Amino acid sequence: MDFRSLRFKLTLWYVFILGILLISFSSFLYFTLSRSLHRDVDNKLRSLAEMIASESSAPLLGFGFDQTFEAAMNLKPVGKFIQVLDESGRIGRKSENLKSIQLPISLQALRNASKGMITYETNRSIGNAPLRIITYPVTEQNQVTKIIQVASSLEVVEDALNTLLILLLITVPSVLLIASLGGQFLAHKALKPVDRITQAARMITSQNLNQRIQTLKVKDEISRLIDTFNDMISRLDQSFRQIKQFTTDASHELKTPLTILKGEVEVALRRKREPHEYEQILESNLEEINRMSKIVEDLLLLSKADIGEIRLNKEDIPLNRFIYGITEQMKILAQPKNIQIEVANHHSERDADIHILGDPLRIRELFINLIENGIKYTEEGGNILITLSREVIEQTNANHLGETRTNGFAKIIVKDTGIGIAKEDQEKIFRRFFRVDKARSREQGGSGLGLSICKWIVEAHQGEISVESEPGKGSSFIVKLPLYSHQTKPLANY
Ligand SMILES: Nc1ncnc2c1ncn2[C@@H]1O[C@H](COP(=O)(O)OP(=O)(O)OP(=O)(O)O)[C@@H](O)[C@H]1O
Ligand SMILES: [Mg+2]
Repeated sequence: MDFRSLRFKLTLWYVFILGILLISFSSFLYFTLSRSLHRDVDNKLRSLAEMIASESSAPLLGFGFDQTFEAAMNLKPVGKFIQVLDESGRIGRKSENLKSIQLPISLQALRNASKGMITYETNRSIGNAPLRIITYPVTEQNQVTKIIQVASSLEVVEDALNTLLILLLITVPSVLLIASLGGQFLAHKALKPVDRITQAARMITSQNLNQRIQTLKVKDEISRLIDTFNDMISRLDQSFRQIKQFTTDASHELKTPLTILKGEVEVALRRKREPHEYEQILESNLEEINRMSKIVEDLLLLSKADIGEIRLNKEDIPLNRFIYGITEQMKILAQPKNIQIEVANHHSERDADIHILGDPLRIRELFINLIENGIKYTEEGGNILITLSREVIEQTNANHLGETRTNGFAKIIVKDTGIGIAKEDQEKIFRRFFRVDKARSREQGGSGLGLSICKWIVEAHQGEISVESEPGKGSSFIVKLPLYSHQTKPLANY
């Protein structure tokens, strides 16, 4: 048995508490019984002494004490020893069963008696069993005339108490022994699933994360533990899969430009070429190198974001102006495809001045990515429309400083008239390296990381990003970012 095991500790506690309870109960039982039996004896002795005192008159002083006693009181005091002394302590009559023995009388009892006080004593000097003796003075006109001593053997009482003690000494340890076995069994039964969990956990490595611990039918703490454990393994499994997938995708993504680069250089080296040919080849090489460095940059950004290493330098961004600035720049990119980019005129005055708290660099990257996608996946002559509005959840009224606090979102929609995205792909496009049409995207220099970065940026700003799209008609990317309101407006009646 392992003394540090939970099973041992549980059993120990169980037996310990049960032991304390049983011992307290037994002691209580023993002492209560002992007190009550002793009190009983004392009461009997006293009532007998009183009876003798009230009846003891002249006849009692004659011979044949027992017979006179019997005759006078119509009662035979079985097992009781009676002795009558005169006021000076000299022994007068005594019951026949005393034979030649005298009941001892202590100095203290004699002293008490002279003061008219009753004394109870236990004497162990006569016979095997202790004797309980009452020394009872009889007074007449404040004068002690006689002292009556009645004694009774405590044998029966002691026997009863001894029997009880032996019984308790046998039963308590046996009960504790049985309880400890039972406790061990129960603890073993209750903790068996824990052993199973431990074993299963030991077996699980990154290679077999698809394994699960068998669940229990009963829904108790252990089954909750198993469920939690299984959930954890599922999540680990998923993370591992994602990492594997990610590594495969990343290496694959880098392999293509490398293969092209290698091919081009090999072909170039086959024979001597004219300078302008080299120039052409180098230009093509540069294109692949640029592509690779963008992938590596994006990957680096995402993995840094994953481990939370990127700090956002948040500041107040006046979103209307900010987005306007970005679109002006993006128009240059859209020109070759003759795509119009427009920022929709706001409908209400409130939408004209929307502020968010964000890292301008990241927010810029977010919208550049979205608009760039719009341009990439829209046929020539299409258009991109950007709308800005606010979605208020709750607005607190102006306080004494004239501040209004607005809780809600800035909602930015980037809508294009492009090729659209099929329903089943809509949730996948935010995954790393996912592209609906790999060949087409690659042609345009895409590696499928743009939207993953967008998603990270939005989430790092406590926002949300979603897509609505219909193949052939176009897509809308909806970004929601928490509003930042710090505007101070004077109260109307100020
Ligand atoms: N506006 C859009 N219209 C249609 N499809 C889109 C649009 N935006 C994204 N997609 C689809 O989602 C995929 C993922 O987009 P994402 O921006 O992550 O990657 P990418 O544009 O291919 O490459 P990158 O942005 O890294 O250069 C794209 O390959 C494309 O198939
Ligand atoms: Mg993109």
